[in-house]
Amino acid sequence: MNRSPTREVAEVRAWAPGRVNLIGEHTDYTGGLAFPMAIQLGTLVEGVRRGGRIELRSDQQRVAARVPLPIGNPRLVRPAWARYVAAVAAGLGTTEGIVGRVSSTVPLGSGLSSSASLEVAAALALGASGGPAEIAELCRAAETAATGVPCGIMDQLASTAGVEGHALLIDCRTLEVTPSPVPPQAHFVVIHSGQRRSLAGSAYGERRAQCEAAEHVIGPLRDASLTDVASIGDTTVAARARHVISENGRVVEFAAALAAVDLAGAGQLMVASHRSLRDDFEVSTPTLDTLVAELLATPGVYGARLTGAGFGGCVVALCDRTVELGTGWVVTPSAGAHLR
Ligand code: GLA
Repeated sequence: MNRSPTREVAEVRAWAPGRVNLIGEHTDYTGGLAFPMAIQLGTLVEGVRRGGRIELRSDQQRVAARVPLPIGNPRLVRPAWARYVAAVAAGLGTTEGIVGRVSSTVPLGSGLSSSASLEVAAALALGASGGPAEIAELCRAAETAATGVPCGIMDQLASTAGVEGHALLIDCRTLEVTPSPVPPQAHFVVIHSGQRRSLAGSAYGERRAQCEAAEHVIGPLRDASLTDVASIGDTTVAARARHVISENGRVVEFAAALAAVDLAGAGQLMVASHRSLRDDFEVSTPTLDTLVAELLATPGVYGARLTGAGFGGCVVALCDRTVELGTGWVVTPSAGAHLR
């Protein structure tokens, strides 16, 4: 029998970057300020658009995603990683699926937004249209639908709105994104603490609820001042508010320091951010604290802090270009999600 070889033609190739947050942590869900950058590590979803089902192999997962469309409840989909894609498809209401594969260079559970980059790449591959904020909001809602975690918009918006060579000042109240050039002298290195982070298993939802409790007393944290914190009776809730209010201020100062190529000043703000996350927001761990301390003792390191939600995951360090840490990923500010 002479059967000609069949070759699958990849009709769509959608790339979405992960992100590192430089400063502005746990501020997004109160309409605050964040300062992430899209990075060169990301996720590629490629395949042939074909009716009725999603069928994707993954280079990071043992079990493929096989999901019939339309999707009911994404949280019931197995394996668990397929829930992110299923939730995006459900949000889009698409009945035209995709058969293909997922390849990713974002380490899982690191705090570099592996899930957001998968969601955004899947959204583009499944034909999502609209601007960066619209696609980011679809994917943010998908993250919550897939995991139950009430996350903010930062990760998805950094992935959709990334600009090569720039970090992004994000106003999470208006979703306005202001690209801010990263000076070539600034080297950002991300180091994994070895502690795998899981948002679903963390106290993320509890922190968010505590911020809402603070807002019941003093109004939107974005508009509040540190003096207002004194009127919050519950000391834990007051500490959470103090972190968010001070962190919004640090974002503005950090953006200015980076623009002025004041790397020492920027580094100090990263250290202050880490301390606030450790002491007031209580999302650090002894492992993260030790890693930050070790980095700060290394010549040529201007500053270091936990990045992402905390509870494990990664630390980001701002270093002199000459520093060779011998570990971690040097991350570079990269373009946002696009079809290839
Ligand atoms: C996670 C969430 C984001 C943000 C950060 C903390 O990455 O997905 O929305 O809240 O934590 O800054």
